[in-house]
Amino acid sequence: TPSPAAAPERRPFSRVTPEDLAFFSKIIPGRTITDPDILETSNVDWLKSVLLRPQTTEDVSQILGYCNSRNLAVSPQGGNTGLVGGSVPVYDEIILSTALMNIVLNFDSVSGQYRCVFESLSLFLEDRDYIMPLDLGAKGSCHIGGNVATNAGGLRLICYGSLQGTVLGLEVVLADGRVLDYLATLRKDNTGYDLKQLFIGSEGTLGVISAVTILCPRKPKAVNVAFLGWESFEQLLQTFQRCREDMRLLNTHLKLANPITDCPFYIVIETSGSNPTHDEEKLHQFLEEAMTSSQVIDGTVAMEEAKIKALWSLRERVTEALTHDGFTYKYDISLPVERIYQLFTDMREHLRDRAKSVVGYGHVGDGNLHLNITSPTKDPVLLASIEPFVYEWTVRFQGSISAEHGLGLKKRNYIYYSKASLAVALMGKIKTMLDPKGILPYKTLPDDLQ
Ligand code: FAD
Ligand code: MLT
Ligand code: ZN
Repeated sequence: TPSPAAAPERRPFSRVTPEDLAFFSKIIPGRTITDPDILETSNVDWLKSVLLRPQTTEDVSQILGYCNSRNLAVSPQGGNTGLVGGSVPVYDEIILSTALMNIVLNFDSVSGQYRCVFESLSLFLEDRDYIMPLDLGAKGSCHIGGNVATNAGGLRLICYGSLQGTVLGLEVVLADGRVLDYLATLRKDNTGYDLKQLFIGSEGTLGVISAVTILCPRKPKAVNVAFLGWESFEQLLQTFQRCREDMRLLNTHLKLANPITDCPFYIVIETSGSNPTHDEEKLHQFLEEAMTSSQVIDGTVAMEEAKIKALWSLRERVTEALTHDGFTYKYDISLPVERIYQLFTDMREHLRDRAKSVVGYGHVGDGNLHLNITSPTKDPVLLASIEPFVYEWTVRFQGSISAEHGLGLKKRNYIYYSKASLAVALMGKIKTMLDPKGILPYKTLPDDLQ
């Protein structure tokens, strides 16, 4: 029996012919890529694939319309920073990249309509005294379309909520090439079912998101960041996780120094407000109270941009540090917050010395643990010890097996741990309705519904 994570069988799609390439080159001249070096940057086996770089919604519409009529499979790709194998082809799917769809369509004081690389969008907004309601360690590479397609959570969710709330509207090119213009800019609009929610988190399986309207907060006048260390997780939870292990990896692999005393748990807290003096005072008072009540072992505060960035690096670069530690098995678990450390300790005890490192970090305010287990090389025996243990543990405590990264290719067959059969069956019906030929294949839904 194949393992649930093994790639599904190739479905009988057409294969790309020279005539197909000629058609694409006519629509997007110079942007139909078969050059091995460029394809490699998209993490793709170039012998099998072709990369298309549309610039406009019309380009995307023509490409998808053609692929649908020719029964050619497509893999949408943004910045390729996804962590569940969603953004690269499984076999010979055509890669449809949004790399060149980088423009701000419209901006006003309430919302903006964008198709953009995240970083340029962030800079555009900051110049106008606004910020993105979303921030994440992948900000240098990801695209807003990819963020919405994965319903990325990130570092500001606790403050501004999820994209399911801040995205006001979408433009989506459906699998058959029709363009769904759902680019509302209204805060309130209860006319019928909220179709945009179907596409937020659909991971490229229902259509290609070609533009987004998003509600952006004003840039705070004052931003403070505190980096604190705790003796116990319970104490951390009292005031408000992170482990010594990821700090060790940051030191060893990235030469990032711990700015405070070594502690078993760390937390980064960012506050934003409108009065710098007042905000600074409040944060210092909070720190003093936390330290005198002996909850916090040590801490440091930053108000200047460079130090804020340095403190955030200690959190944002854990993913990168892990890549230097060996092969990483990644789990993105949602749990009642008081349980997140217990999963970490239970896993460590369960694995004993079979893993190289067991690392826990995440978004404590969101009850989201990133449980990462490394080994020197890919290790099927270790994997068999982790799974299904981790999923069964999660279900026992009413958690979700994917808090924010989605299911992609890697986790698609585990969906039943977190969703009832009826819910998954309805998802299958929606998929069939929006992509009847299934040209956006293999991801998110389990193999029995592909
Ligand atoms: P890709 O990786 O290119 O694609 C992701 C999925 O979306 C694929 O299934 C793809 O087919 C689909 N897709 C992409 N663009 C479109 C589109 N326009 N229309 C339809 N489907 C599309 N995730 C979090 O949630 N929170 C975090 O804090 C976070 N931090 C990260 C930090 C690092 C260092 C890294 C490497 C990743 C992190 N991620 C995080 C995961 C990842 O960055 C996010 O999922 C991100 O939103 C993906 O965007 P992307 O443009 O790179 O999409
Ligand atoms: C994070 O919070 O840093 C991201 O989700 C990436 C990861 O889990 O490694
Ligand atoms: Zn995360």
